[in-house]
Amino acid sequence: MTADALRICHVGIGYWGPNLMRNVAANTNAELAAVCDLRAESLQNASEKYPDAKLYDDLGMALADPEIDAVIIATPSGLHYEQAKAALTAKKHVFVEKPLAETVSEALELTRLAKFVERVVMVGHTFLFNNIVHEVKRCIDSGELGDIFYAYSQRLNLGRFRTDSDVMWTLAPHDVSILNYWFDTSPDVVRATGQAHIHPDIGVAEICFANLEYPQGRSAHLHLSWLDPQKRREMVVVGSKKMLVYDDMKAEAHIRIYDKSAEAQHHSAISDFADFTTRLRAGGIVSPQVQLVEPLSVEIAHFVDCCRTGAVPRTDGRHAVDVIAVLEAMEQSMKANGMPTNVARIEA
Ligand SMILES: NC(=O)c1ccc[n+]([C@@H]2O[C@H](COP(=O)([O-])OP(=O)(O)OC[C@H]3O[C@@H](n4cnc5c(N)ncnc54)[C@H](O)[C@@H]3O)[C@@H](O)[C@H]2O)c1
Repeated sequence: MTADALRICHVGIGYWGPNLMRNVAANTNAELAAVCDLRAESLQNASEKYPDAKLYDDLGMALADPEIDAVIIATPSGLHYEQAKAALTAKKHVFVEKPLAETVSEALELTRLAKFVERVVMVGHTFLFNNIVHEVKRCIDSGELGDIFYAYSQRLNLGRFRTDSDVMWTLAPHDVSILNYWFDTSPDVVRATGQAHIHPDIGVAEICFANLEYPQGRSAHLHLSWLDPQKRREMVVVGSKKMLVYDDMKAEAHIRIYDKSAEAQHHSAISDFADFTTRLRAGGIVSPQVQLVEPLSVEIAHFVDCCRTGAVPRTDGRHAVDVIAVLEAMEQSMKANGMPTNVARIEA
């Protein structure tokens, strides 16, 4: 660890938190100086692994500690806004797991507060630190796939059920952050439906189907589910020249590019319905080599760098606001049984 390492307090040691803590501890420019959770058992487990970290069972106490420069928040999403606001007010840099907040106005407030106190706010959109996702973007931007017609994503499994946040707010931040990055913009209109079969009493949707209309006629479809027989993490991008499959569950060959396409053909200058045929092309499949690095380690290194240098994070508040605007529109559409809902364009 370097002498001027960023002293981090990790908050929230549940299912996901330990992955972040491991990457903080492994980063030579950071120190896992403290951990915080309400549960004594979680603190006990953390102290066995990281004996030098201070233990806090109250975030306010951790934020009052002058030996903490930054906090990482991995608590349930309903707490993110209040906890991030408290951390920024205490002049700590903040990394918040996705989603940054539950409304656009909360996310905007955090973004403005971070600017005002001159501290970093960054959201944990992990996939934007994933080399496979970058390679897909390269394929789209280089024109290799041709004009992009549509994309779809399947993020399915049996569980892990949450009761504090539905499947859309839990999983869609991944897909929306990836698609916004691939297409360099947000969708204009969304339609989404959701259903709660296992816990209809609390009304937390376990499955969600959504359509996102991006500019240039590009559409995207999301299928998100905690109620599926198969674990699937797959995204498909269909272009006019080639088609790409990104399978995050594969141990290797995560990307397969199919040299397949379809094209309308006319036989005569005077078009007649019978003249229309479709030319199909089906060539080989290539799988580009991608250097695999744990995305969380890249993400934490980026956060630490931004705090130390003042650089703007790739997934800063501005980026989070755009993603939350889409999630908010999806939530509205779900409440209205799939009604087309405009995505608000937010000025920073
Ligand atoms: N980036 C990813 O791929 C990914 C994956 C899973 C979860 N997440 C995100 O991580 C966050 C946590 O998810 P999880 O599944 O670990 O949740 P979890 O419920 O398993 O863990 C949350 C932890 O926060 C603690 N906590 C609750 N209130 C607290 C408070 N006031 N102060 C301190 N600690 C408190 C709880 O005791 C618990 O240990 C969520 O925002 C989730 O969206 C991200």
